[in-house]
Amino acid sequence: MLKKKIGILHPYIPEKATVDEWDVLEQVKYISSALKTLGFDPVPVIFDLNLEAVGITIKMLNPAFVFNLVESVNGRGSLIHLAPSFLDYLGLSYTGSKTEAMFLTSNKIVSKSFLAASGITTPASYTLSSLKQDIPVKGRFIIKSAWEHASIGLSQDSVVSVEGALELISELKKAQKRMKGECYCEEYIEGREFNVGLLAGENGGEVLPPAEIIFIDYPPGKLKIVDYKAKWKPRSFEYIHTDRIFNFGKEDEHIIESLKKIAKECWNLFGLKGYARIDFRVDGSGKPWVLEVNANPCLSPDGGFAAASALIGLDFPMIVNRIIEDI
Ligand SMILES: Nc1ncnc2c1ncn2[C@@H]1O[C@H](COP(=O)(O)OP(=O)(O)OP(=O)(O)O)[C@@H](O)[C@H]1O
Ligand SMILES: [Mg+2]
Repeated sequence: MLKKKIGILHPYIPEKATVDEWDVLEQVKYISSALKTLGFDPVPVIFDLNLEAVGITIKMLNPAFVFNLVESVNGRGSLIHLAPSFLDYLGLSYTGSKTEAMFLTSNKIVSKSFLAASGITTPASYTLSSLKQDIPVKGRFIIKSAWEHASIGLSQDSVVSVEGALELISELKKAQKRMKGECYCEEYIEGREFNVGLLAGENGGEVLPPAEIIFIDYPPGKLKIVDYKAKWKPRSFEYIHTDRIFNFGKEDEHIIESLKKIAKECWNLFGLKGYARIDFRVDGSGKPWVLEVNANPCLSPDGGFAAASALIGLDFPMIVNRIIEDI
């Protein structure tokens, strides 16, 4: 019997791309192999700004559905929603969150305003346009890209201590110049860090076992953040001295339960589909703060999402199957 063709849509990765960009090709490889195990015939398709050509390629392939792995276009996270939007236009079904959810969650400033409006705590944040000189801001802030993911542009220098709005405005301007894109600043939450994955199940998003990211032997004064080095530079101190754990004592039961509850609320709030990951910090008083909602977290078998799924007995093809069943 002829196997159903599946298009695996992914961004064009140039030879000189950065390590975080290359990661998507690893995912294409593993998802292809999982789809083959599930009895499909997967075909990688590049998504770029030549939409007419992309459309022709996809139409010729005539896939049963598309596995959408587009996390940026031309290296820009701000174009992420083009892929699902174009697939909607072509009338094709695809994995993961739909256009609206992809757009809303990928712009962190927009997603934070949705979170705050629905009572989910997320650190207070400002952009250059919202930060007026007379706003009484003081203390530690982290400056992040509004659209990019994967800790792009993040380092110890991204956290600044300021006495007032003018100083913060100047830091934001510097960061925007350095990162060549819109940035925002957010109150720095000192505390623990957790990731909570969700995978589509019979009753919507099933919350996977939460993971804590631990910072081992960080010297005093070094900020415990998952910056670019911690994520992508295997030989760096940050990469070597961060780890992921899933075992918690009784004293953490309450925190873990509230993280799971909030993760599910985020899934429902944005109408997420397939798979997602919510990133949290938990402050010294045990209060959870949502840092961001990832509608398309990394699916590599050696990543956190697969590790959390394995704990509930799901191997990689089973994860892929759950995602497909939620189309
Ligand atoms: N408000 C905050 N307070 C403390 N640490 C923070 C805050 N915001 C971000 N961080 C640190 O920076 C890291 C990256 O931030 P965030 O998750 O918002 O960005 P990202 O680039 O989208 O990351 P991802 O790779 O998860 O997509 C976090 O994992 C955390 O360690
Ligand atoms: Mg994150």
